[in-house]
Amino acid sequence: MNHIIIKMSKMKIGIIGAGFVGLSFAVVLAQKDFHVILIDKDVRKIKKIKENEPPFFEPKLSSYLSKSLKMIESSSNFELLKKCDIIFITVGTPIGKNGMIDLNNVIQVGKEIGKKVLQSNSKPVIVLKSTVIPGTSQKILKVIENSWNKVGKGFSLVTNLEFLREGKAIEDTKNPHILVIGGKDGIANKKVVNFYQNVYKQKIPIFLTNHETAELIKYANNSFLATKISFINQMANICENIPSASVDDIAKAIGIDPRIGKRFLNAGPGYGGSCLPKDLQALISYSEKLGELPSLLKAVQKTNDYQVSKIFNLVKKNLNGLNKKKISILGLSFKENSDDIRESVSIKLIKKLIHEKLNVMVHDPMAIQNTMKIFGDKILYSNVIDEVISNSDCLIIMTPWNEYKKLNSTNFQKMKNKLIIDTRRLFKNRKIEGKYFAVGMNLMKE
Ligand code: UGA
Repeated sequence: MNHIIIKMSKMKIGIIGAGFVGLSFAVVLAQKDFHVILIDKDVRKIKKIKENEPPFFEPKLSSYLSKSLKMIESSSNFELLKKCDIIFITVGTPIGKNGMIDLNNVIQVGKEIGKKVLQSNSKPVIVLKSTVIPGTSQKILKVIENSWNKVGKGFSLVTNLEFLREGKAIEDTKNPHILVIGGKDGIANKKVVNFYQNVYKQKIPIFLTNHETAELIKYANNSFLATKISFINQMANICENIPSASVDDIAKAIGIDPRIGKRFLNAGPGYGGSCLPKDLQALISYSEKLGELPSLLKAVQKTNDYQVSKIFNLVKKNLNGLNKKKISILGLSFKENSDDIRESVSIKLIKKLIHEKLNVMVHDPMAIQNTMKIFGDKILYSNVIDEVISNSDCLIIMTPWNEYKKLNSTNFQKMKNKLIIDTRRLFKNRKIEGKYFAVGMNLMKE
């Protein structure tokens, strides 16, 4: 017998979309000796990747990329995917102007796969990793079939959601807490399961289900996380009215109850980022379209929006007139260890502040470049924390970067007016001179 046994690790894996999910997946697979074909329509992004330059900041990505380059073929040409055994779709699914999910990216990718990949005799399994509303996998299956013109032959589609976090993208890709796999083609599902078992030597729970349930699991997951944050933020707001009450102690105590769990109970300025706000909105719109009232989800969203107006009102209330006052903002990215400012609460706050003609000066270890693209010369920027704080009328800490945790009263000496709003409670256990307000603590009113 003349069988050629192809070792799993020699499989060719296609990935379409070089964002956080796609690029992190590509480098982790490359490190495990898979040949990866990475496709993105953005030629500048592809050029950067080829030149060993990550197109966005993500801890560990740079070193993983340089070690993986020889195993990754990156391009904007879909035809390169022809020889792939499995093709993962990891393109973005933003919110459109009507508040509904915008599926154009995935639909376009489906058409390209039909036209440019399936003509060859290869029979890849297509795996949809992008976050999509129920029914989308079946829709993409039809798009591929229609543009290929050969209904029902030669390829299968599996839904497989991603749960990685920005800032921990490599870590989470190397060690996912679950693999959700949805589809109706048992052989294709098995192929994906086998592939993952080959990638991950450790035991990872695998959850097999149908397309629609898999699609909804991702929304349920992110909406539940958003609900936890809004819940604790509401508790924080209640605590602020009770002398000596601490929201962190409340979070710690209820977190010990295994039915609740301790994570995602950090009160703050509200959640931001490219995922939780978008996914909650997509689920709300989807639910309304079904005729189901998304009352809880809407309350979560409203509670989140309230946090930023609360911070803004605190500034207004505690400054004697707003005109030309200097406001210093520490932290622009939606969370630490990221340069991502999408839906960042800090950006929303700055918009409100400059609308009131306040002078805003900002610092962030990674996100200044991205912020400049939004505000240009409407605000001032500095890489030096002390310069941002100096001569300030109000300091607001928005992102819990490690360097901010090291600040103390000496750093605040040069403020003109010592009003400090600490939305992440970094200094709650320190003696801070002046008016110190920490979200979820009654300190300023004492
Ligand atoms: C989120 C989910 O956590 C991931 O599981 C999911 O895969 C990802 O969305 C996605 O759908 O792609 P991410 O957006 O990277 O991940 O960020 P999170 O760590 O969830 O943080 C979101 C926001 O909530 C940040 O602004 C963060 O500061 C805030 N947050 C988080 C809190 O205010 N309190 C908390 O206790 C936790």
